[in-house]
Amino acid sequence: QATVGGPGRRDWSTWPRYEAAVLGFKEYWYPVAWSRKIGEKPVPVQVLGQKIMLKRDGGVVRALHDRCPHRGVPLSHKLSSQEFPGTWSCCYHGWTFDLETGVLVAAITDGPESPICGKVAVRTYPVREHIGLVWLWLGDGEPRPFEDDVPEELLDPAALVVGRITVRDGNWRFGAENGFDDGHAKWLHRNALWTKRVKMPVWSEMKVIRDGPWITRRKDKMHYQAEFPGLGSFPRKKWYKRREGNKTKVSLRLPGTLRVKYETWTHFEWWVPVTGEGHVYVQLATMNRGWWNNFRFWVYYRVWARWVFHGMFNDEDRLMVEVTDAPPERLYRPDVSLTEWRKLVEQEARYSPGEAGHD
Ligand code: FES
Repeated sequence: QATVGGPGRRDWSTWPRYEAAVLGFKEYWYPVAWSRKIGEKPVPVQVLGQKIMLKRDGGVVRALHDRCPHRGVPLSHKLSSQEFPGTWSCCYHGWTFDLETGVLVAAITDGPESPICGKVAVRTYPVREHIGLVWLWLGDGEPRPFEDDVPEELLDPAALVVGRITVRDGNWRFGAENGFDDGHAKWLHRNALWTKRVKMPVWSEMKVIRDGPWITRRKDKMHYQAEFPGLGSFPRKKWYKRREGNKTKVSLRLPGTLRVKYETWTHFEWWVPVTGEGHVYVQLATMNRGWWNNFRFWVYYRVWARWVFHGMFNDEDRLMVEVTDAPPERLYRPDVSLTEWRKLVEQEARYSPGEAGHD
């Protein structure tokens, strides 16, 4: 047990690093936006507490800290402009920054010989565009290899990737925990349209196992009917629940990436911290089985999975993530899914020196 600072937090914890990571872990690549949404006009985003301006320039996406060092005006303000190629000028007094390096290259209202030029810079962030998404590195050191943080199913540029990106309420950890939470899958979602024809188990004998960078829920035995002493049996039979539903493999890894493997395609989720109270919720579905299968999956996604799975089903999760209020908490047996995740974070999360709660 170690000491953890911060208002409103317990002064000791079994998971001090995890509890301190209100704004997540900086030393990872995060998906933050669809590439197609980033054009010449700046797009402000907030990630891990940092305000960032994304803008495409000469076909390349640039990311700048969204605050002019002169007087703190957002550089993404709609009155700001591009006056010289490869630069961006703040709308207030015309300070002009190189989009690639962030260095002040002109202070227009102080003339061409302005002595402040070259002495001030805004922070820029490494950017990657891959599979139609913009990925950001917010760490302090050199970026880690991109492949370290992107699941292998998404590394092949030929993979079909579809999905949704929305901003949601609730701390990112409630999202990650909910995604991997074994008990809720059987209860909260038991009447979801997405699982309409699937018999959900009442409970399962389950272990969490290590699987490369992932932890995975291994379902050893599923119980589709259970007798509760003095109460009766559960569930009552439903004629439309035909198939047994234990075909998926659910895994979680740092920095908060969920993978659900179906037989032919894979679903991913990220909860990218925005502030302590909200996150960017990234939902992806991917298939990589040749253009014809990919096309058929695209149609299936557009007419069904996008609405019923990424919409209605994951909205049930949203409702819980918004209202979860823990700790304090009293855990039960299926919560081994939560405690194994927290252990993984404690043992393996990368962090920057000086990051909250670390030495
Ligand atoms: Fe940006 Fe003055 S606040 S130039």
